[in-house]
Amino acid sequence: MSAPELQLRFDASRFTPMTVQVNGLALAVRAYEGLPTVTRPVEPAYQVLNLYIPEAYFQGGAVGRYTAQTAPIFLPNAVGGYLPARPGTPAGRSGPPPGAASAPGGPPTGGPPGAGPGGNGPSTIAQALAHGYVVASPGVRGRTLRATDGTWTGKAPAALVDLKAAVRWLHFNAGRLPGGRADRIVSNGTSAGGALSALLGASGGSMARQAELQAAVQAELQALGAAPAPDPIFAVSAYCPITHLAHADEAYEWQFQGVHDYRRIDITMLDHAVQRREVPGTLSPAQQALSAELAAAFPAHVNGLGLKDEAGRPLTLAADGSGPLRDAVVAQVLASAQRALATGQSLAGRTWLTVEGGRVTGLDWEAYRRALGRLKVTPAFDDVALGSGENQLFGDARTDKRHFTAWALARSTVPGATAADAATVDRMDAVVQLLRSDAGSVPAPHWRIRHGTQDKDTALAVPVLLAAAARHRGLSVDLALSWDRPHSGDYDLPELFDWIDRTVA
Ligand code: DHB
Repeated sequence: MSAPELQLRFDASRFTPMTVQVNGLALAVRAYEGLPTVTRPVEPAYQVLNLYIPEAYFQGGAVGRYTAQTAPIFLPNAVGGYLPARPGTPAGRSGPPPGAASAPGGPPTGGPPGAGPGGNGPSTIAQALAHGYVVASPGVRGRTLRATDGTWTGKAPAALVDLKAAVRWLHFNAGRLPGGRADRIVSNGTSAGGALSALLGASGGSMARQAELQAAVQAELQALGAAPAPDPIFAVSAYCPITHLAHADEAYEWQFQGVHDYRRIDITMLDHAVQRREVPGTLSPAQQALSAELAAAFPAHVNGLGLKDEAGRPLTLAADGSGPLRDAVVAQVLASAQRALATGQSLAGRTWLTVEGGRVTGLDWEAYRRALGRLKVTPAFDDVALGSGENQLFGDARTDKRHFTAWALARSTVPGATAADAATVDRMDAVVQLLRSDAGSVPAPHWRIRHGTQDKDTALAVPVLLAAAARHRGLSVDLALSWDRPHSGDYDLPELFDWIDRTVA
């Protein structure tokens, strides 16, 4: 083993004992925090992993249904807004702060008290440990990081590179881990973190394949000194993934064109875990014209993807935006409402739903999208004034903000604005990666995608297309819209853990 590889070797004897309080249980855990995942980091505070292993696994014992030999490795990232994220800890909160903006008429953003996000309940990491998982939480560089020499250090694809470095570290050290299966890594994330979780699952592969498919990512991993190991993962959990960014503007206007009033948030508030302040306004005539252009472009894009629904029918759209993809979105909302009704929730006031004899039988798409309301101005992602978080994500070492579509570049209001190259944009797109990866790559075989029916940070077509792209690759997909949930994640951890338990078995 070379000297750099020695630095990445896991030393099980260097831990901090920790007691994690969760649901009345005091769980003893060995904490290995701040483990470097690369030997030549550019941001040493972020390119690290926190690893937590239940003490029982060192004593031949069990936690829940798992032992050291059988426990999956849960890999939650804490990314929001494509901002930098420190590795998570069991003490960290797992979702939006109490009082964060919630859906009108819906439950508080924080979800059920004590069960996941918000409130003072245990963190996602604490709950995962109490369930018997080994938890590995990676730090991730993000769009605002800058070195002392002024260069930007967290632009795309840095976040993906860091997640892959963490996965490679786990595979490299698989034989040295006192607990947890590197062949059962389950990634989890919300929003930008959900997109990255999906991307990790979409782009996994052997080292040889990666050299061809992900040349730039591979080169950066080598330059950073990542562990010499492959980076496949077993399962993806993604909440409200903000992905398919180069077409998210079209999707957004497909959903909201004609809804001119908005309640906008600042780019500093894109992070799903921060409290949001919404500023009301109305699209200008120029923005309305852009909206019409983008909405008109979406059907051709969708029709070119060649995706199908579960029954094998083409997921297409007619020029007016109606058609099977919209029907698939509507069917998901209807199924979500039906589940809510079946669990005793009231659908009163949802005038866009038709409920007959205890069954949700219809949805008025026009009324639903107007009731939902627009959160973002046009264009929602590749802002012609370079004002979005995604513009900042697609900067480079010397440029803070760039466009990432030819369409917005051609309409840019910023003198001298440039655009990221198409390969970088594609590398950050889980839908594109799923559709382009060749047969030699190793996408995660299991996917669970959740998205709230009150989420307007991106169009509902995005999770539906992501699910279809994963199915297209022959992967197993569990997609559902979560009733009344706004932009948030980790609100149904018992169900997520149940899915993981069934999937890894
Ligand atoms: C997030 C939210 C957004 O609206 C966005 O465009 C990107 C990221 C987030 O919450 O992570």
